[in-house]
Amino acid sequence: MPASARHQVTFRNKNQVTGTFITFEGIDGSGKSTQLRLLANYLKQAGCDILLTREPGGTPVGNRLRAALLDAQEEVDPLTELLVFAADRAQHVRRVLRPALALGQVVFSDRYADATAAYQGAGRGFSPELISEIIQLATEGLKPDLTLLFDLSVDDSTTRTRRRTNGSQRGDRLDSENAEFHTRVREAYLQLAQREPERIKVIKTSQPLELTHERVKETVVPFLRSRGHVPHHEVETSSSEFSR
Ligand code: TYD
Repeated sequence: MPASARHQVTFRNKNQVTGTFITFEGIDGSGKSTQLRLLANYLKQAGCDILLTREPGGTPVGNRLRAALLDAQEEVDPLTELLVFAADRAQHVRRVLRPALALGQVVFSDRYADATAAYQGAGRGFSPELISEIIQLATEGLKPDLTLLFDLSVDDSTTRTRRRTNGSQRGDRLDSENAEFHTRVREAYLQLAQREPERIKVIKTSQPLELTHERVKETVVPFLRSRGHVPHHEVETSSSEFSR
């Protein structure tokens, strides 16, 4: 049997996945990456070992795909975009996520397959059937155990993104899509959360950073405990961490 086929068979057995896979989603400027950083620091100080990764760009080849995908100067056809996000995901699932989960690790990914449903499905208009086929192909059925969806109005997220990019346009190629695009993406994310309320927890980020951080901890820490990844001790997040 070729090595690649052996790899497939090994990881098809779901019982071998013993780790915990948590994903972080939201429209651009929703505060997702800031909250992910705060949570990861908190858990690290509490003695919980986390593998932090992201899409696109969770592998060396994925990083190169990311640069091409997000370059605001590139004209990328929507079909190319869909397939390249899927290629990045296939590499990530096979080379990083499955192996880490098989070792029992806690893995946090900044974006995963829900982003394809929201951005390429609702945003670009590819059919739900094609989107789920492509997701299935790239993930081979690997689903997050928990997803935090950071939610903010498109107006507020645009204000945040502008602040980040020094008042100029939104930053990368997808950031710079118009408000209707980001509204479709936001609505699609909220629909996904309605459809899968057990997995996807919506966290509103219009409140102060500290309060959102508390909500995130209240959602994630008991979940990790219930799966046997116990933070060793309680810690307080230092106030300096809240300065953006
Ligand atoms: P992200 O890394 O969250 O951007 P930022 O640098 O602003 O934190 O995500 C990069 C962009 O890629 C974001 O606009 C969403 C988009 N994206 C998709 O369109 N489809 C996908 O499947 C993924 C994973 C991301």
